[in-house]
Amino acid sequence: MKISCSNLVKTYEGGKSGWPALRGVSFDIHKGEFVAVTGPSGCGKSTLLNIIGLLDEPSSGKYEFDGRNVLAMSDGERSDARRDSIGFVFQSFHLLNRLSSLENVCLPMRYAGVDAAEMKKRASGLLHKVGLKGKERKTPLELSGGERQRVAIARALANSPKVILADEPTGNLDSVSSRDIVDMLFALNAEGMTVVLVTHDREISARAGRNIRLRDGRIE
Ligand SMILES: Nc1ncnc2c1ncn2[C@@H]1O[C@H](COP(=O)(O)OP(=O)(O)OP(=O)(O)O)[C@@H](O)[C@H]1O
Ligand SMILES: [Mg+2]
Repeated sequence: MKISCSNLVKTYEGGKSGWPALRGVSFDIHKGEFVAVTGPSGCGKSTLLNIIGLLDEPSSGKYEFDGRNVLAMSDGERSDARRDSIGFVFQSFHLLNRLSSLENVCLPMRYAGVDAAEMKKRASGLLHKVGLKGKERKTPLELSGGERQRVAIARALANSPKVILADEPTGNLDSVSSRDIVDMLFALNAEGMTVVLVTHDREISARAGRNIRLRDGRIE
């Protein structure tokens, strides 16, 4: 697994003209790395993560994900790659409140066509792994913020991704839960998972193996 970006530019339609969100960003991320993406609000962190995660496309530049030229892939190929290889964790959890935590974790596997029994077994194993044994039937609204984010991490792991992308996953959490979530991401990295984490927290970025610092759409 390797992420290779070269000269990425992103201009949003309807965004401030002449001021792209990304202005020529190049870097590689290798398997097993823990990379923190940092920088002031508006510098392009989420834009970059969305591109890395195949949720959005750059306006120009080159992006290779796992040896494949992303810009040459069809929409279908991109969404397959996203489903099979990328686990997302967002600041606001993005869980479905009408589903139980077990069902939330099952969802990516359902899209991947995993059979029902296997899906449930894996989902409960993952919830156990993130410390939520016994909370399988709770819906997100019955869980604390930290617990919701653990469900989101379990869901991110559902299809055994090659990389976890987390955009300020502790932004809505108190300091104790934040610590918990960050420790969990580092533990996954210690097991070999590649992790890319957007954070404003200096303590967290200091723990990462490497920092990518953005300012005004460029790497500092
Ligand atoms: N969908 C969009 N349409 C137009 N402009 C956008 C869009 N998304 C982001 N932008 C602009 O692109 C720039 C980078 O935004 P981005 O969300 O990547 O910043 P960020 O570093 O993640 O900020 P924060 O730390 O506040 O989350 C900003 O100027 C923002 O206003
Ligand atoms: Mg952001």
